[in-house]
Amino acid sequence: MPTRRILVTSALPYANGPIHIGHLVEYLQTDIWVRFQKLRGHDCRYFCADDTHGTAIMISAKKAGVSEEEFIARVSLEHQRDFGDFGIEFDNYGSTNSPENRELCNQIWKSIRDAGLVKEQDVEQLYDTKANTFLADRFVRGTCPKCSSKDQPGDNCSVCGTTYTPADLIDPVSTLSGTTPEVRQAMHLFIELEKLHGFLDEWTQNSGALQPEIANYLRGHFLGEKDKPEPLRDWDISRPAPYFGFEIPDSPGNYWYVWFDAPIGYMASTKQWCDRVGEKLDDWWKSEDCEIHHFIGKDITYFHTLFWPGMLKTAGYSLPTKVHIHGFLTVDGEKMSKSKGTFVAARTYLDHLNPSYLRYFYASKLSSKVDDIDLSIDEFIAKVNTDLVNKVVNLASRSAKFVETTGLSKKYPDDGGLFEAGAKAGEEIAEAYDACDYSKAMRLIMALADRANPYVEENKPWELRKDASQAARMQDVCTVALNLFRQIVVYLAPVLPQLAEQTGELLGEPITRWDQSQTPLAGTPVGKFQHMMQRVEATKVHAMIEDSKIETEAAATPGAAPGTDAPGSSDKWNDSGDALAAEPLADECTFDDFLKVDLRVARVVEAEMVPEARKLLKLKLSLGGGVYKQVFAGIKAAYEPEKLIGRQIVCVANLAPRQMKFGLSEGMVVASGPGGEEVFVLSPDDGAKVGQRVH
Ligand code: 2FM
Ligand code: ZN
Repeated sequence: MPTRRILVTSALPYANGPIHIGHLVEYLQTDIWVRFQKLRGHDCRYFCADDTHGTAIMISAKKAGVSEEEFIARVSLEHQRDFGDFGIEFDNYGSTNSPENRELCNQIWKSIRDAGLVKEQDVEQLYDTKANTFLADRFVRGTCPKCSSKDQPGDNCSVCGTTYTPADLIDPVSTLSGTTPEVRQAMHLFIELEKLHGFLDEWTQNSGALQPEIANYLRGHFLGEKDKPEPLRDWDISRPAPYFGFEIPDSPGNYWYVWFDAPIGYMASTKQWCDRVGEKLDDWWKSEDCEIHHFIGKDITYFHTLFWPGMLKTAGYSLPTKVHIHGFLTVDGEKMSKSKGTFVAARTYLDHLNPSYLRYFYASKLSSKVDDIDLSIDEFIAKVNTDLVNKVVNLASRSAKFVETTGLSKKYPDDGGLFEAGAKAGEEIAEAYDACDYSKAMRLIMALADRANPYVEENKPWELRKDASQAARMQDVCTVALNLFRQIVVYLAPVLPQLAEQTGELLGEPITRWDQSQTPLAGTPVGKFQHMMQRVEATKVHAMIEDSKIETEAAATPGAAPGTDAPGSSDKWNDSGDALAAEPLADECTFDDFLKVDLRVARVVEAEMVPEARKLLKLKLSLGGGVYKQVFAGIKAAYEPEKLIGRQIVCVANLAPRQMKFGLSEGMVVASGPGGEEVFVLSPDDGAKVGQRVH
């Protein structure tokens, strides 16, 4: 098999929100494909980056009170942590706000200019005079000019479906400041895509790079038929200042629209990797020997199948070998919903469940089609438990421990042709992976497990081990079971890298090549069997959903980075960021962690000085019903004891008691402030009852 050189990308996630299970469909789909290609011995590289430019990120950073650079740096860390914990392995993870990207944008822009594809045109846009910014469509709402429905977004009416520009809205309001924006003219730069019509027609319809349904969609919606072509609209590629992005070198005061520099980020990320490992960018992006595969969602088809190939072609780079387009995720047949708790952040998932479950479940659903995939909660639980735990892992858990001391039989025993049949299935499984038909690959692999399990059940190694005269037979049976298990795990390795690693450790040979599925192991030691995968517990899945509801209530708005305010909210208080800066947020804790701290409303029933202590007051707190806690609180400089008596406060009621010099302290009073005279004890609003828990 000749070695292929394959460059792979996933869509670059926006740097203004956390990764969620919807995003993961794509990153897992891609990671599985890359791992498969690597396992087959191909020189395959996976590049990604954060998509960092544009108005939304500018506004999120402003609300968070930090520079855009700091904002995107924080989000990048979170994204990379989430991806890493899901086993998604990039060869490089970059940022579109990198010097490499700026350089490549300049170069590609020059080619587009030189090709005579750029024109200037004045555009009317809404301008928020309070926020001092032009408003992207999503930051304007108003009355639909067609059907008069109120509170419609700036691009199209959700009631009658009419598309318009924000300037057409009646009574437009900026969602940034709540003020009425004014119409201002600004010069924009446009790329005349129509000049590439012939090329795009040919490439989209005949190159084989697109799924047939996508090629048809492009012809039907944008390109038109050969004998009746539809002109392609000019692409508005610039935005006037203020804008977070790259300033266009030959058009000062104007910035490339985020969608211009975003896909170039694929190349910039490659370039960073090349510089690190001593490779050349052109060997990957300008070489006939290198395949380029983009994985994207159907919502960004237009950018990747018309603009992007147009840019690449004009600048003399290779065209995508394949754009793999997938559908959206639904949960229990519906769009992911924040209020229902089905809009699950990657981190929330990880707080409750093993990432391998989702990797396998998505694999079992994905095909090479653009169809949406559904995560039915019941199916998720059943599939993981039936397939992975009962069928696959069980093969090892019912055999490995019986050969811990002897190892595998010297010679691979007669298994009635099971291993050989499994080896033969390898090519069909590989073809399914290569074609992104993972659901087929999973079906074929599970069929092997369905043949392996009866072998173990019929031969019952757990019975054989009771009879010393059957020792050799038991070893043979376990040797077969473990080899069938390993063969299945090699095939599953792109989907379940963790299981592959555990299996490699158990059987003393790391799983790194597909062809390890073709030869059984014999005469080798077997390690101590460690539990490989727990069953999915429904309670954990439901806890994850509950947590997602809670996080949604606490979170700002869709798309906002954690802990930041989001576009559209109106914080008129402008509180200083000094206190937060002085004490940055602690490491994230899970909801379960939070619940460990039992906060209660308590009443101060006694308060007195502790003469020997510089900072402490001794308090007696009532939790009601005759339950009291004695607490020494460091609030002496800020409070006179008598002023506290009778007051309701909040205390940590389940803190382990601590013996102090002056007596036992059985809790803590919740207060803020740096200390000394600046301590502020928290109290509940009127109506709270002593003893109530604070959530
Ligand atoms: O739709 C999105 O989430 C974009 N951030 C994807 C960009 S993909 C590429 F072009 F950079
Ligand atoms: Zn309307």
